[in-house]
Amino acid sequence: MAAPKKLYIKTYGCQMNVYDSERMAETLGAQGYVETATPDDADMILLNTCHIREKAAEKVYSELGRFKGLKEANPDLKIGVAGCVAQAEGEEIVRRQPMVDLVVGPQSYHRLPEMEAKARSGARALDTDFPEEDKFEHLKARPKAQRGPTAFLTVQEGCDKFCAFCVVPYTRGAEVSRPVARILDEARDLVERGVKEITLLGQNVNAYHGAGPDGGDYSLAKLIWDLDKIDGLERIRFTTSHPNDMSDDLIAAHGECKKLMPYLHLPVQSGSDRILKRMNRSHTAESYLRLIERIRAARPDILMSGDFIVGFPEETEEDFQATLDLIEAVKYGYAYSFKYSPRPGTPAAERQAVPADVADERLQRLQHLITAQQTEIQQSMVGRVVNVLFEKAGRLDGQMVGKSEYLHAVHVTHPGIRAGDIAAVEIVEAGSNSLSGKIL
Ligand code: SAH
Ligand code: SF4
Ligand code: F3S
Repeated sequence: MAAPKKLYIKTYGCQMNVYDSERMAETLGAQGYVETATPDDADMILLNTCHIREKAAEKVYSELGRFKGLKEANPDLKIGVAGCVAQAEGEEIVRRQPMVDLVVGPQSYHRLPEMEAKARSGARALDTDFPEEDKFEHLKARPKAQRGPTAFLTVQEGCDKFCAFCVVPYTRGAEVSRPVARILDEARDLVERGVKEITLLGQNVNAYHGAGPDGGDYSLAKLIWDLDKIDGLERIRFTTSHPNDMSDDLIAAHGECKKLMPYLHLPVQSGSDRILKRMNRSHTAESYLRLIERIRAARPDILMSGDFIVGFPEETEEDFQATLDLIEAVKYGYAYSFKYSPRPGTPAAERQAVPADVADERLQRLQHLITAQQTEIQQSMVGRVVNVLFEKAGRLDGQMVGKSEYLHAVHVTHPGIRAGDIAAVEIVEAGSNSLSGKIL
């Protein structure tokens, strides 16, 4: 038998890319590849890329430049670009970096085996179609190997919302939901392999409307209730949600479904109605705040997380102040904030930019406020008892790290705790990025 070929995958961007990279590794595994941790001895390098901000997209080219020496030393090395930059830039990638052998967009991964063969034969393979088929149905080369306690599971892809700043509707295409039966199959398979917590993924996961067993549409809440029945699955999470798709049954599930964790990532982007309108967000600051009230009425201890963009075209100091006011009102446990980056092909890219120094300064002020809220919430956990799903050994001797139901990282030092265990932990100390406690 020929020695296995080595595959090095580097993943950028969101969790959906992490999930996709796992599927690609498994598919290429069936073609005789094993994963390697460094590009140095690889037979194939695959960059799974992100196009969301300019910095992310440009990183791909500097990374490719670094592989030049490897390619010269080993002409059999194949280099591929997958993900959202592949979709957005297609042939342009090959023009800028001719040593690239393979370019594959996110909806064409099931065609990787043929593309790999084509690249091996010396031709260039390029595919950025949006085929009709469910790519994951064709990416089922699932090995039965044991897995860690947490896993991602993509249930929905694409986006029809077209926020004025965002490339996702172009790179991932229209909203598509996977059928319920396939998701349940995959979830059962993950649980058999040791998974205790599944995070359902979608660019607009709460807009999920997959075909149920009887053909009718399922909401995300209905899917969650079906997953709830799987023995051995202990925790369910989902991300990312859009405020306009938080349906009543999903809000209710947060109060009623024990396996659904009290954590919700609900990006709002801005607290100014003027800017929200220009962003084409189709909700207001007020409607967002009312929504959070209803969610907290269903689940009072839920931890909120959000995304913010500062320096969106025409954002004034007053608009920005409205964003700070909204943050004050919500109190976020986590938040991700970004300086607006104009993206080619999006409507906002044509508009008058906010000066870079102004945007930088706003980003700093916003992050300062978020950090203060995060710290306050972490400090308030001291003395409380949380449930921790342990994932791996910590840095100190005998230490284990896991996540609380609120997604806080929690450290304990306790003999006999293994990855996959769930235990009640009393929090004794809050650090800047994690908590530590003792097993009860
Ligand atoms: N589907 C998700 C998020 C997708 S992108 C949602 O609707 O919220 C993740 C985050 O990147 C966004 O929430 C936004 O805050 C940020 N983002 C997207 N496009 C951006 C751009 N052009 N510049 C800066 N940040 C951006
Ligand atoms: Fe992008 Fe808006 Fe769609 Fe989120 S909802 S992926 S921000 S277009
Ligand atoms: Fe980036 Fe594509 Fe995800 S642009 S954030 S990798 S959907």
